[in-house]
Amino acid sequence: MNPRLTSPIPMVLFTAIPTLIGQFGMLLQRVDYKSEKSSQPPMAAYDYVVVGGGSAGCVVAARLSENPQVSVLLLEAGGNPSPLSFIPLATPFLQNNPTTDWQYSTTPINSSDILLGNRPLVWPRGKGLGGSSTTNYMIYMRGNPQDFDQWANITEDPRWSYANVEKYFNKMEDYHGRYERDGNYHGKNGPLSIEPLKYAPGLENVLDAVKEAGFSVRDLNKHQQEGFSPIDFTQKRGRRHSAYSAYLEPILRRRNLKILRYSHVTKIHLDSKRKATGVSYVRKGSPSYVSAKKEVIVCGGTIGSAQLLLLSGIGPSKHLKSVGVKPLVELPVGRNLADHVITLVGPIILKQNGSVPVSSMPADVTFSSFNDFAINGDGPFTSAMGLMVAGVTSSSTSPGWPNLLYFILSLGIYDGLGAAIDQVYGSGNYTKELLHPFIGQDAHFTVLSAGKPKSRGYIELLDNNPFSKPIINPQYYSDSGNQDLQDMIEGYETIVNLYENTNALGYKLGARLAKIPNCAGYELRTRGYYECAIKTAIRTVFHPVGTCSMGKIGDPKAVVDSKLRVIGTKGLRVIDASVMPEVTNANTNAPTIMIGELGADLIKENFH
Ligand SMILES: Cc1cc2nc3c(=O)[nH]c(=O)nc-3n(C[C@H](O)[C@H](O)[C@H](O)COP(=O)(O)OP(=O)(O)OC[C@H]3O[C@@H](n4cnc5c(N)ncnc54)[C@H](O)[C@@H]3O)c2cc1C
Ligand SMILES: *[C@@H]1O[C@H](CO)[C@@H](O)[C@H](O)[C@H]1NC(C)=O
Ligand SMILES: *[C@@H]1O[C@H](CO)[C@@H](O)[C@H](O)[C@H]1NC(C)=O
Ligand SMILES: *[C@@H]1O[C@H](CO)[C@@H](O)[C@H](O)[C@H]1NC(C)=O
Ligand SMILES: *[C@@H]1O[C@H](CO)[C@@H](O)[C@H](O)[C@H]1NC(C)=O
Repeated sequence: MNPRLTSPIPMVLFTAIPTLIGQFGMLLQRVDYKSEKSSQPPMAAYDYVVVGGGSAGCVVAARLSENPQVSVLLLEAGGNPSPLSFIPLATPFLQNNPTTDWQYSTTPINSSDILLGNRPLVWPRGKGLGGSSTTNYMIYMRGNPQDFDQWANITEDPRWSYANVEKYFNKMEDYHGRYERDGNYHGKNGPLSIEPLKYAPGLENVLDAVKEAGFSVRDLNKHQQEGFSPIDFTQKRGRRHSAYSAYLEPILRRRNLKILRYSHVTKIHLDSKRKATGVSYVRKGSPSYVSAKKEVIVCGGTIGSAQLLLLSGIGPSKHLKSVGVKPLVELPVGRNLADHVITLVGPIILKQNGSVPVSSMPADVTFSSFNDFAINGDGPFTSAMGLMVAGVTSSSTSPGWPNLLYFILSLGIYDGLGAAIDQVYGSGNYTKELLHPFIGQDAHFTVLSAGKPKSRGYIELLDNNPFSKPIINPQYYSDSGNQDLQDMIEGYETIVNLYENTNALGYKLGARLAKIPNCAGYELRTRGYYECAIKTAIRTVFHPVGTCSMGKIGDPKAVVDSKLRVIGTKGLRVIDASVMPEVTNANTNAPTIMIGELGADLIKENFH
């Protein structure tokens, strides 16, 4: 037992975070809600109406309003970011929380295991300015160049090739990350601040083990190749730097940009020529309408954008009729849903042997470490649940194009960790029971994901009420060749090898993977065990895309063309993560902000 784990002050502080965010967050939101006055009522019409102020919406609103001749209205269903969202350590508790999150969940996951049962998975999505960039884990990853070349192939538009989108990544970035000196591959002086990992107990052991296992430690944002790296985060002085902080906060006084919070858009209006003329929205309980003189730009995210198009009669007509929505434009909205399914590999118990220091997350969370955060922007409060290393590798079926993703967390097991994870993931008492025997021990976990999944799910309306939550069925592991599962098994082997068969982790720290009780019938380190573990600890790492995929006109999967215009309509675009026809082998915030930048440029082509 690590004696520091029993020290009452830090533990009280640490376990108080969910309550703080819950109760205090509720209070803060009430104040914010009241402060959203109608002192300056919106105009009846704007050139551009942007729906949703998330990762992409903030960028679009900011870039369009750079031209003072153009009027822009941004409608956001939620409020200002919670002040607590700026503390990275508080991140997990922003999820599944009514003040900061939409609290979506999937249809029950059909998995044969006992512990997880036929249970829905929680699917968090940030609500409020900054969207999911205000509640996410801040990992900054561009993706693999081939991921973008694939988009260019699908759309037959070289605009989306890495050779072209690279300049938008550079434009976005104010890079001060781990590889700052390798300046050729990163942007400087852009709006979005990127900083290196600042708190990582056991990091050197992991990096040594990576090399022992035959992988490189390299910059995964420099033309991504197989390897591992300490993570770069979207932070500024250790605080969260969301799309709101980066793009909107500096321009809140711009006179041609009006931002309306607590404004939930319920319908896009199309005229008889299928031109978008405006939107209906409900602001603080009152219904309103606003006209768009030039365009309506939907930035509601993979769930919100699909839902809004469907509610407006844009989607599969059969489905729309079944829920009482009049079909206007036949498109596969909601269909091409891809997500990064994960399994949580762990706990991997570390037994400190001799002089190797392995401190762990909760033990280091103290009042003085809060000071360190407040004054220097450093220490464990900058950590999102102990995330420290990211990795990408290729399975045997994808040589030269990594298709597996890893995130390594250093997280000592304290009483309450399991419950916190279950709260975030809606996994009942599963993690609580799994971790119970290990309370007080140092541990690592690995989030392992199928980075280029073949399985596709869908989003549909439950009914025609815009305030109902849509049906989300991710259909994980449904690909006909069962390739996603086979790839994941290879990834599992890679992680077990990295931890148990290396000197740096296996011998020096005595790293051992704890057995999942549910898979007790299988021998550890066998394919049967891995398959059981993968299906038991099935979760998402929150990267759904594809419900408004871009593609060539005539492509049965395409909802928008390569200029992000909704096919068969005028004056209507979707600009957000939903347009990705295939998910990147990386986290999706950076490419979504890039889509916002590129999308804004596409609209500006029409400026005179
Ligand atoms: C918990 C979590 C952790 C994540 N971790 C990472 C990470 O570490 N790194 C990373 O790169 N990515 C991460 N992601 C993914 C990444 O944050 C998202 O892919 C990205 O933010 C999506 O951007 P978006 O613009 O498509 O949608 P969002 O950012 O979700 O924005 C959509 C916005 O539209 C608003 N909206 C929706 N519908 C309406 C409506 N009808 N009317 C008005 N407003 C509406 C929403 O409130 C929201 O503000 C994470 C996501 C989550 C949820
Ligand atoms: C779950 O999967 C099993 C086996 O694949 C199948 O027989 C069963 O019908 C499925 N159940 C649901 C609710 O989809
Ligand atoms: C794109 O298409 C070309 C030509 O068909 C092909 O050679 C290339 O491998 C494709 N690239 C990707 C990333 O899909
Ligand atoms: C979780 O455990 C608590 C008691 O510790 C129990 O009351 C509750 O029913 C359990 N929940 C589930 C979903 O098993
Ligand atoms: C710890 O170190 C000792 C010698 O230094 C060694 O004999 C033992 O096997 C090590 N144990 C672990 C778990 O690494």
